Amino acid sequence: MSFVIRPIAPEEFDAFVETDSVAFGYTPDAEATERTRQYLEFDRTLAAFDRDEMVATTCIFSFDMTVPGGALPAAGVSWVSVLPTHTRRGILTALMRRQINDVFERGEPIAALWASESLIYGRFGYGLAAQNARLTIDRRHTALMHDIPSSGKVRLVDREEALERWPACHERARHQQPGWHSRSIPWWQYRVLPDRAPERSRRRILAQYEEHGQVLGYARYEWGMNWVPDQPVPLDVQELVAETPAAYAALWKLIFSTDLVTEVRASHRSPDEPLYHMLADPRRLRRSFTDSLWLRIVDVPRTLEGRQYSAEGCVTLAVHDDFYEWAGYKYTLTSGPDGAACQRTMGPADVSLHARDLAAVYLGGTRLATLAAAGRVEGDPRAIALADRMFAWHPQPFSPEVF
Ligand SMILES: CC(C)(COP(=O)(O)OP(=O)(O)OC[C@H]1O[C@@H](n2cnc3c(N)ncnc32)[C@H](O)[C@@H]1OP(=O)(O)O)[C@@H](O)C(=O)NCCC(=O)NCCS
Repeated sequence: MSFVIRPIAPEEFDAFVETDSVAFGYTPDAEATERTRQYLEFDRTLAAFDRDEMVATTCIFSFDMTVPGGALPAAGVSWVSVLPTHTRRGILTALMRRQINDVFERGEPIAALWASESLIYGRFGYGLAAQNARLTIDRRHTALMHDIPSSGKVRLVDREEALERWPACHERARHQQPGWHSRSIPWWQYRVLPDRAPERSRRRILAQYEEHGQVLGYARYEWGMNWVPDQPVPLDVQELVAETPAAYAALWKLIFSTDLVTEVRASHRSPDEPLYHMLADPRRLRRSFTDSLWLRIVDVPRTLEGRQYSAEGCVTLAVHDDFYEWAGYKYTLTSGPDGAACQRTMGPADVSLHARDLAAVYLGGTRLATLAAAGRVEGDPRAIALADRMFAWHPQPFSPEVF
């Protein structure tokens, strides 16, 4: 089958949404479509056409992504869909190949995405770089083991104030957290804090923590009273960002003190969430884990030189890449007190792994020693142990929002 792949023009956006909605099973909503149009980068969209019919879509959001001890330009891959009439004919494969070539030419060393299914993207060299935790706790069991004193105060704010003051706080906080990405102002306006009427039976709450007038954290959450007696009243935390332990504790305390709520739920949290260690009765915090961020290394030397390492050392990695042959070479990585250097080499390798496994360990969440135990990394055991210590990182990566 022959098909054409090209970016879409703005007037083709409705067809783009229509194609995606058929593949994902939702009914397009005119207001949501208009909001998306405000932050979509049309020159970074791609669609596949079978004659005149749009049959597949994808796009990239341009991010700056935090990596251990640094940040790199990243291509945030999204809106991946193929119509059911055209699946399993290689259209996604063709889109992926074209897209990663574009990313390479643009000079972005990494691409990242959230996957609808975890078996799709490994074949294209994406590795599971971060897992997220979903937290649930009965509000009756949210007493904290100790109080964290703070000199600040928590205030409820409206959307306008949040839009004015939260981006700077987020920008500082996200540099401490591998896996988080930068947000443009339209992303804030139309995606994080959209101006839409909430359901009548639910309330969106925006709260910020301040010290001496400076915002050091914020939380946005939603809940709604259930007027049927003895029925659960869940509160959903959509985001909680804190620059300090005092801000973190103050925001959780506010959430836990919401009268009438029976259960607090939070998605997209760290697998190593400090809250677990603050609770008097930590077993009450139910945690379930799921894959979140899938990473593809496009430029190996730049990517490996772009982060800091937890141990000094030198290892030569043989990286196998059956999708992009230009990424599959041997590289010597040296980490020292002044940073890291990575060069291609023709010499013997200490450790041998697939590009997707290098991507998986890159943010410090997936351990290289664990992948070796899983039979996915081979080499000299001492070199594997050293590389494992080098790539490990605190804090563990996670992704705060689906994109
Ligand atoms: C996932 C999706 C984009 C795949 O598109 P596609 O054009 O059928 O993919 P391709 O034909 O290029 O498939 C490439 C390979 O991946 C496999 N594959 C692709 N999607 C798969 C899936 N969901 N489950 C199992 N295998 C899959 C194919 O079997 C093929 O394997 P092969 O090379 O061994 O033959 C498409 O099925 C779809 O739109 N699904 C619904 C929306 C969705 O989940 N999108 C992804 C969002 S992250």
